[in-house]
Amino acid sequence: MAQQNNGVAANVTHTQPLWLLAEVTYRCPLHCAFCYNPTDYDKHTQNELSTEQWIQALRDARKLGALQLGISGGEPLLRDDIEDIVVEAKKLGYYSNLITSGVGLTEKRIQAFKEGGLDHIQLSMHDITEEINNFITNTRTFELKKKVAAMIKNHGYPMVLNVVIHRYNIGHIKEILEMAEALGADYVELANTQYYGWSLVNRSQLMPSKEQIDHAEKITNEFRAKVGNKMKIFFVVPDYFAERPKKCMNGWGEVFMIVTANGDVLPCHSARVLPNMQFPNVRDKGLEWAWKDSPAFNKYRGDSWMKAPCRTCPEKDNDLAGCRCQAFLLTGDAESADPVCSLSPNHHIIEKAIEDAKNPQLQAQPIVFRTDKNSKKIIAGELQ
Ligand code: FES
Repeated sequence: MAQQNNGVAANVTHTQPLWLLAEVTYRCPLHCAFCYNPTDYDKHTQNELSTEQWIQALRDARKLGALQLGISGGEPLLRDDIEDIVVEAKKLGYYSNLITSGVGLTEKRIQAFKEGGLDHIQLSMHDITEEINNFITNTRTFELKKKVAAMIKNHGYPMVLNVVIHRYNIGHIKEILEMAEALGADYVELANTQYYGWSLVNRSQLMPSKEQIDHAEKITNEFRAKVGNKMKIFFVVPDYFAERPKKCMNGWGEVFMIVTANGDVLPCHSARVLPNMQFPNVRDKGLEWAWKDSPAFNKYRGDSWMKAPCRTCPEKDNDLAGCRCQAFLLTGDAESADPVCSLSPNHHIIEKAIEDAKNPQLQAQPIVFRTDKNSKKIIAGELQ
């Protein structure tokens, strides 16, 4: 292996970030049980970047090559400067996507987004029943979401729905797809819950069985055949039930760059769970240094960091040993194979989690909702 620099083999070329995900705030009016935001997000809610700092981050990321901009959160619409960010994104030539719960989207704001050049709005939906929608988000947002979906359609945006799937709604897949069709959806992502952040805390309560997932996929395939190209449907297989691990973020520091509410620059959503890592902040040395030279972005680029069995595995170029955060969260070792992999010596951890999720006592444990109070308790060690 060639000489190393910040832990990266010199023969690994630095790619450019194609995606900038701007997690503009961790504040959120919803309290979803499956939220992927860090459970200790309350630590990072102070000190949000200003509008000017976001605009500078957009410019710097564009100079590095980023083309796609995701504006996410928390709920991004809790900030009143998203319109300014959209205008700047258009000026810089980004394809921009607002990822929202719909709370805070008004006629006035969507009109401003349209005029400002926002390309795409992705709306989260939760179920066809008011009961499950309100339970899993711990809010009363069912009717509002349908109104917002109609507003998005009326303004000529493609209708893009994201539905996180878990035990509480997996039995409603057909009805969810019918609802999407009735709303005029162009794209529907059925995103089976992945277990990070709050969903890891609530894993046994949320995880469906393999039989339920297989059945949901069968119904999805039948529906897809029925509607044809009118509505594109994506069924995202959950890691725990996949054969092989995913190439997380398409490779660490390869295509994605995430800037968080307080300016931390991360290669993936969950990276701050990893121990002994210092992530760059846009307030310090800027995005170019963060992407090209920071030790954090270089730590898991390429394959020189891999241990057995990944180092010599013929699959390693396909999956890059899976997800570093999942490996750490489940094994305590960020450099181990993602235990999702059947070749991992720790694969039994996944098998046990699947078994645990069949246990009625664990299923019935109270859900820990994503709230500021619970985040503070997690930081204080009062909740797991
Ligand atoms: Fe961090 Fe997969 S979420 S590497």
